[in-house]
Amino acid sequence: MSISDDAIILGIESTCDETACALVAGGRRVLANVVATQIELHTRFGGVVPEIASRAHLEAVNSVLEEALSRAGVPVEQIAAVAVANRPGLIGSLLIGLMAAKTLAWAWGKPLIGVNHIHAHAYSPALDGEPIAYPAVAMVASGGHTSLYLVKAPTELELLGSTTDDAAGEAFDKVASILGLGYPGGPVIDQAARTGNPKAVDFPRPLLKGQSLDFSFSGLKTSVLYHVRGVPGAVREGVEKGTKLTEQELRDVAASFQAALVDTLRIKMRRAALATGAKSLIIGGGVSANSALRLAVEELGRKHDLSVRLPALKYCVDNAAMTAGLAWHLLNAGVTDTLELEATATVRV
Ligand code: KG4
Ligand code: ZN
Repeated sequence: MSISDDAIILGIESTCDETACALVAGGRRVLANVVATQIELHTRFGGVVPEIASRAHLEAVNSVLEEALSRAGVPVEQIAAVAVANRPGLIGSLLIGLMAAKTLAWAWGKPLIGVNHIHAHAYSPALDGEPIAYPAVAMVASGGHTSLYLVKAPTELELLGSTTDDAAGEAFDKVASILGLGYPGGPVIDQAARTGNPKAVDFPRPLLKGQSLDFSFSGLKTSVLYHVRGVPGAVREGVEKGTKLTEQELRDVAASFQAALVDTLRIKMRRAALATGAKSLIIGGGVSANSALRLAVEELGRKHDLSVRLPALKYCVDNAAMTAGLAWHLLNAGVTDTLELEATATVRV
């Protein structure tokens, strides 16, 4: 199917704890991007509670949709297709967005397009910007995933590596909890690290041996735990077990942890870029909002003469603009789904 360059796609996102709808023209021009976050509902539990998340999606989806349609001011006849992030994510949450998308596609008589949420994160830097120069190395890091890809085209991604345990965002969240900084951990650690010394504690840079492009962050998280609370059965020199950190020590630990994690991501991206001859470096997902990571990737690009594409901060968090944007490329390639489309909690790519 050949579609117009400016075809408008409605995107719907409900994979985790954001209910979002967006309208995007031509895969990049964002006409409306509405995101209702549930963070407040989950904060007191220190993480996303799936049952609460799906109920909140159900309550929010209609008003988020109406808001997006009204902000874009686009009549239904001008919408070319309905796209939905149908994988991966929390199954109960995915189903709400999927049902909404199926209903609209059926009622409006439009094609339905299922989109891989992680692939959409890897596409997010193209929104409101120029096309990305491919091939690109993309690192998608969020609360649920850490995946490194070789992206040959928006819809052609080859998984190079992923986390073997905690996701990068999860490590931020757990370390923030160890430090008593609250949830979600990424933004508070980012903030605390600004006035901390990243060289104060030499935390491990995990899995940097060999040429592996996989990640493992649970050892780093445990190192922070032992540093803060003491190694079980041992007494760390100069620090009594259970001693509270001073404000400055806390900021130093935050900065040192962040440096170790960012270093790990940077080194893997460098390895992947050199091995594949990529033209661009891409980051996406909640962790791509991290200020130290953004600086590190910019520097890596400068050093190796690679184009660096960072998503705008509003497109780092889960949103539907990236879903609708990527769906335009799928539609162009003739990839649409039937009303039998299913929600899939986990995917291998
Ligand atoms: O992509 P996202 O909104 O949701 C998932 O699909 O998981 O990512 C949320 C994750 C959380 O773990 C949060 O702590 C992390 O992204 N995050 C950050 C920052 N902002 C959010 N991590 C590091 N630095 C940040 N500034
Ligand atoms: Zn996400």
